[in-house]
Amino acid sequence: MSDPFDQAALPADFLWGVATAAYQIEGAVAEDGRAPSIWDTFSHRPGKIAGGDNGDVACDHYHRWREDIGLIKELGAGAYRFSVAWPRVVPGGFGAVNTKGLDFYDKLVDGLLEAGITPFATLYHWDLPQALQDRGGWPERETAEHFATYAAVVAEKLGDRVKNWATLNEPLCSSWIGHLEGTMAPGRTDITAAVRTSYHLLLGHGLATQAIRAVAPGAEVGIVNNLNPVEPATGSKADAAAARRADGHTNRWWLDPIHGRGFPADMREVYGVELPERAGDLATIAQPLDWLGLNYYFPSVVTDDPNGIHPFARQVRRLHMPRTGMDWEIDANGIETMLLRLTHEYGARKIYVTENGSAYPDVIGADGSVHDPERIAYLEDHLAACARAARQGVPLAGYFAWSLMDNFEWAYGYDKRFGLVHVDYKTQARTVKSSGRRYAEIAGAQRRRALRTG
Ligand code: IFM
Repeated sequence: MSDPFDQAALPADFLWGVATAAYQIEGAVAEDGRAPSIWDTFSHRPGKIAGGDNGDVACDHYHRWREDIGLIKELGAGAYRFSVAWPRVVPGGFGAVNTKGLDFYDKLVDGLLEAGITPFATLYHWDLPQALQDRGGWPERETAEHFATYAAVVAEKLGDRVKNWATLNEPLCSSWIGHLEGTMAPGRTDITAAVRTSYHLLLGHGLATQAIRAVAPGAEVGIVNNLNPVEPATGSKADAAAARRADGHTNRWWLDPIHGRGFPADMREVYGVELPERAGDLATIAQPLDWLGLNYYFPSVVTDDPNGIHPFARQVRRLHMPRTGMDWEIDANGIETMLLRLTHEYGARKIYVTENGSAYPDVIGADGSVHDPERIAYLEDHLAACARAARQGVPLAGYFAWSLMDNFEWAYGYDKRFGLVHVDYKTQARTVKSSGRRYAEIAGAQRRRALRTG
């Protein structure tokens, strides 16, 4: 196989992974003691999800996890990033632990290890127990505290076998999309609730990091943020200021506090919301981390939008740029820029690309296969950009493709397919796409090269 990029730039023990999240694949929403999460509630509200879809069945992974481990192997992945569903493990959000829920992840982890796959567990990928939402949800401080208790329960059970932990996935989405834009659960449109949510999520991250380490001393703990470079659409002062605000909203609001720099003063002013700060919180939020997770999909180019919502910056369409089936711009340079920024501006010592991928309207061909050349190109371009970053000294330790298989794409329902494996939702048949085969080839070639060169 020809080398599509500078694979020699990657470390010999580079981890090739695939990622998923509980609500997007598991289904079995009322089984074995699982209680509803905010996503069950939201997805059953008329008009919230394209096609009226919901995660009730999803990919039925709860019953098909053994087969799915086989797929991970087939994709040549040596690591699997999954999320634990809080409402399965602690259905009320706090209090009684549901042993059956915990057992599911226990078996999954054993199955992964038997298959030689390293588990990466994410503790919160947006599925807050509805019971906690009913008490106010993330805008309330107690949710952060309950999150840490739940994290300890999971780490106590799995920590003897799971070394790699992510506290949160994309707190930006839970905060800004879930509480300000309202197009994700819980569907609120309130800047005060959104800012309080962001604060308590990061507080929960810090508390959970401490809790995991207390029960699983060898744990490597990180956080997963979706970040992207932001550029002004024009040379105007107004657009430059908008880009600065958008960068604060997307990047600095999340990165500064976890690196001990506090919440950016300029953004506090933009939001105009008092933070629910208590003495000691900033130190809790800034726990030293073992790694940073970067989810990257597209860059931002923005223009000033004084009549919009916070941060008053509107994304513009660059007409010359190619786009995915999500209508997201494709620009692989953005992943390199962010990897360099995490390294140089924030001093990251270990980074995983915890998600990267593209959706296209894939179909099964007459011969039963799924050809997805655009996804292959996206993958290769982004891997090449990762290798460029590694060549420049970025401590990149692994790459997780989003996603193992097609799944419930939140408000977009099942129509948007991100998988390296195609899922026929009527039969639950899984078919490895051409991109999945290509991924296995690339990962295999890099591993062989690493073995040869020692
Ligand atoms: O499907 C999502 C995932 O849950 C979080 N990151 C972005 C993906 C694609 O939208």
